[in-house]
Amino acid sequence: MKTLRRLWQGLALGAAVQSLVLADDTIPALVLTSDAGKGDALAVSGQFSRAVPGELRYADRASLLALPGVTRLRERPWVMMPEADLTVVPLATVVGALVPQGDADAILLRCSDRWESVLPLSFLASHQPYLLLLHNGKSPEQGWPMFSRVEGLAPYYVNVSEKAHPGFKGVIDTGMISATQVVEIRAINLQRHFAPLYAGTWEKLSEEASAGRAIFVRHCNNCHQAQGVGGNTSQRPLVLLQTHATHNPQFFRTMVTQPKSVYPDTVMPPHPFDDVTFIRLIQFLRETLALSQTAP
Ligand code: HEC
Repeated sequence: MKTLRRLWQGLALGAAVQSLVLADDTIPALVLTSDAGKGDALAVSGQFSRAVPGELRYADRASLLALPGVTRLRERPWVMMPEADLTVVPLATVVGALVPQGDADAILLRCSDRWESVLPLSFLASHQPYLLLLHNGKSPEQGWPMFSRVEGLAPYYVNVSEKAHPGFKGVIDTGMISATQVVEIRAINLQRHFAPLYAGTWEKLSEEASAGRAIFVRHCNNCHQAQGVGGNTSQRPLVLLQTHATHNPQFFRTMVTQPKSVYPDTVMPPHPFDDVTFIRLIQFLRETLALSQTAP
């Protein structure tokens, strides 16, 4: 239950940051429109006071560029990409301009490739992740580089500056933070968001499986949905992972450590886990498979 507790601690921290952000009246409110602008505008939803419940509102690139704190970095957007002039705005500023409300303590970034990143507000304060607005002075329609052979950055990209935080591996308890193809920012409450992973029959997992769940949330959930939570870049139902882990752990291990040996073009990153980590992850998938087969 350690990770669960750490997540909940993040919640308390998030609340502190939230009031900090709310108290910052130097950030002018973003004007949102109902116009998606050919997909170049950022959708805003969830527990923001600027959002409209049940509807999407949009911030366009020009209004994001007009925010205070827009700055230029000279660095690589990603280790495999060349250095460039990055015109960025701190995500914390965007969040401040949208004004989180109620018990919102995190944001969710939804991406067009069905990736989802969850960033606690406390993380926005500690690591100042940026939202990329222009690359070498250009908007996406004027030409942005590809992130990989099969993956673009546009319309929006979120990352932590490698110069401001050298050595940061890009992964926190709630998953990987660097998000390509971001189309929506949503304010959420962490505990409610992850609750389905801790509720019902999943409430009483063994200690080992529970540790495996934390590994899953941290390393897999951006792309592999479970109990309706998380991204779905993989487009693989959880039962497929559970079945591999249960009946063919050797293949499961190969797939996780060297995904390109199975799918040469895959976007799934290699995870060179040690034995203990595999035992926990596999136990989590086995146990939850067994539960789904015995559940009424
Ligand atoms: C960046 C997204 C991403 C992350 C993170 C990710 N995966 Fe995947 N995974 C995929 C995609 C995409 C596929 C489907 C293969 C393909 O077409 O590229 C896949 C396929 C798989 C498969 C094979 C399913 C099958 O039979 O086709 C397994 C097993 C798997 N992932 C396990 C994991 C585990 C365990 C983790 C965490 C340690 C993980 N993945 C993290 C994207 C991801």
